[in-house]
Amino acid sequence: MNITVAKTAGFCFGVDRAVQIVDGLLDRQQRVCTLGPIIHNPQTLSRLAQRGVRVVETPQEVSAGEMLVIRSHGVAQAVFDEMESRAVQYVDATCPFVAKIHRIVAQAGEKGEIVFIAGDPGHPEIQGIIGHCKGQYHVFKNHQELHDLLNNILYEKNMPVCIVSQTTFSVTEWKICLEILKKVYTNAAIFDTICNATANRQSEAVELSHKNDIVIVIGGRQSSNTAKLLNVCRENCEAYLVETAGELPLERLREAKNVGITAGASTPASIIKEVLATMSEIKENTDPVVMEDNADSS
Ligand code: F3S
Repeated sequence: MNITVAKTAGFCFGVDRAVQIVDGLLDRQQRVCTLGPIIHNPQTLSRLAQRGVRVVETPQEVSAGEMLVIRSHGVAQAVFDEMESRAVQYVDATCPFVAKIHRIVAQAGEKGEIVFIAGDPGHPEIQGIIGHCKGQYHVFKNHQELHDLLNNILYEKNMPVCIVSQTTFSVTEWKICLEILKKVYTNAAIFDTICNATANRQSEAVELSHKNDIVIVIGGRQSSNTAKLLNVCRENCEAYLVETAGELPLERLREAKNVGITAGASTPASIIKEVLATMSEIKENTDPVVMEDNADSS
């Protein structure tokens, strides 16, 4: 069996930064709570819980002496306002790429533009973005929803509009949606806010799925970027999502010749290493494991 590990597998910059902020505070004996789970990865969450980190849902739940950490997804302006008014001590670990979207939509609202947001309205990142909009906005998950939306709203063709996307939105879907929107709003201000880490991870996953019999996608079941990786791989080959090495489809792997491995932005390197170790055990020969350049093997 040949095993190829995606060079983009594992923590992205924003998630790594958020987890390091929490660990750094804990190292300095600071009591820490996070507004929602800091990362969509159960193993990292349980490690942090063992270090005493509490997950809270609102700033009201923060106790005296605790430091609240805002996760990389970001939050609505109203949450910052509430933390300020309650004098809650906090560290903002919003990914700078997400914070940039907050600024774009806020400025668009001030200019009277209608904001179109490509993304999942149930995802915390989108809820945060919506919470920085200052005027009208619309969210759509895919081009079908966009079609329905455009049929239902009665804006004139040359209304000023601004278009942004969730950082983990599908690159393919974004292109389709833009084509549709550009036909209706010829003067639209378009901001391609899909994160490079996401775009690169998705295109590498597509490449892996073309070159391998099976792709293993390592990541949390709650992680939307991991789910998207699984979907793009499944278009071209057999693909499995595993949260830990214990979930590997051993029977199928024993039969496979070429196996690709990728991982979501919230998957720690330690879990990727565990999966690799298990796969090495089931290899029937000594074919080398190919680590792509810059693979995070720490
Ligand atoms: Fe930030 Fe991109 Fe990660 S937006 S949180 S670096 S996927």
